[in-house]
Amino acid sequence: MSVGVSIALSFGYRAVISASTGNTAASMSSYARKASLTPLVVLPRGKVARGKSSQIASLGARVIEIEGTFDNAIEVVLRASETSLAYPLNSFNPYRLEGQKTIGFEIAEELGENVDFVIAPVGNAGNISAIWKGFRESPLLGLGRPSPRMIGVQAEGASPIVEAWMRGDNVVRPIKYPETIASAIRIGSPVNGYKAIQAVRESRGAMVAVSDSEILESMVMLSREEGILVEPASAASLAGLAKLKRMGAVRDGSIVVLILTGHGLKDPDALNYLASAWLERRSEPLVARSVDEALQKVSHYATL
Ligand SMILES: Cc1ncc(COP(=O)(O)O)c(C=O)c1O
Repeated sequence: MSVGVSIALSFGYRAVISASTGNTAASMSSYARKASLTPLVVLPRGKVARGKSSQIASLGARVIEIEGTFDNAIEVVLRASETSLAYPLNSFNPYRLEGQKTIGFEIAEELGENVDFVIAPVGNAGNISAIWKGFRESPLLGLGRPSPRMIGVQAEGASPIVEAWMRGDNVVRPIKYPETIASAIRIGSPVNGYKAIQAVRESRGAMVAVSDSEILESMVMLSREEGILVEPASAASLAGLAKLKRMGAVRDGSIVVLILTGHGLKDPDALNYLASAWLERRSEPLVARSVDEALQKVSHYATL
C-alpha cells in the first residue's frame, strides 16, 4: 500500500479509492493520511469485521457502504477510476503487487532456497501471485532461487479459483453470493484469478478449499500452540496445511511458510469464539470474592 499511495502522489492525484472487506481500506486510509490524500472507501454493508470498520472510521475515511457484496463494491471502484477522480488501490493495481512481492523477498532472505511450500489464504489473489513474482525475481537481488510450491487456500463457500483449478481451467467463473466466516476472503469474482492459477501451475503447487469449521479449528490451534491470534482468513493457511498433510501431499520435515495475513484484533467476534473455546475448558467459576479465595485458585490452576 505504501508503494501504491506513493505512486498516487507522484501522478498528482488528490484522492485514492478502494473497495474492501476491511483491511485494504484501513491500510489505504493510513497511508493516505500520511500523504495528505483523501481516502475514499467502498464497503459491502454489514460485512466488514468490527475492528476494521473502527480502524477505517478512526482514520476519517470517506465511506460509501453498498448493499451487496465485495464484488459489487469493486465494480464501483473500477467504474469510478475511469473518471480519474481518485486513484484506485485494489490489487488489480500493478504497483500494489510490486509492493506485495517483497513478501517473497523476505522469505528468500530468511530461508534462502530452503523452502518447500508457501501457503496463503486467497481472496482476490493479489498476495499469492505477487509472492510468486517475488520468488521469480529473487535471483536479481542475489537472494538465490527459491522455488517453493505455492498453495492457495480459499473458503469452501467462496472458492471460484479452486473450482477453476479442479476443472483444469484458466477461466475463473464468478460466484454470485460467496459465503464464509472468513470475511477477508469472502470474494466471488477475484481480480487476479488467472495470475493465481499461473503461479500455482508454474510452481507445481495447488489450490485447496477448506470449510469454516476447519478454519475455526485452525484459529484455536494457532492460539493454543503458537500464541498467535489471527482473524479467520489467516487461519485458512493452517487449515490448508492440515488438509494437505491428511492427503499425504506435505510430508513431515518439509519446510512450510504459512502466510498469516490479519491480526485477531481485527475481528473481535472471531476472538470471542476463541475465548469461549478456552472458557469451555474451565470447570471453576472465574470470580474470587477474596484474596484467600484467589490464592486457592492460583494453587489449583498452577498444579493442573
Ligand atoms: C486478512 C486477509 N487475508 C487474506 C486476504 C486475501 O488476499 P488476496 O486478496 O491478495 O488474495 C486479505 C485481503 O484483503 C486479507 O485482508
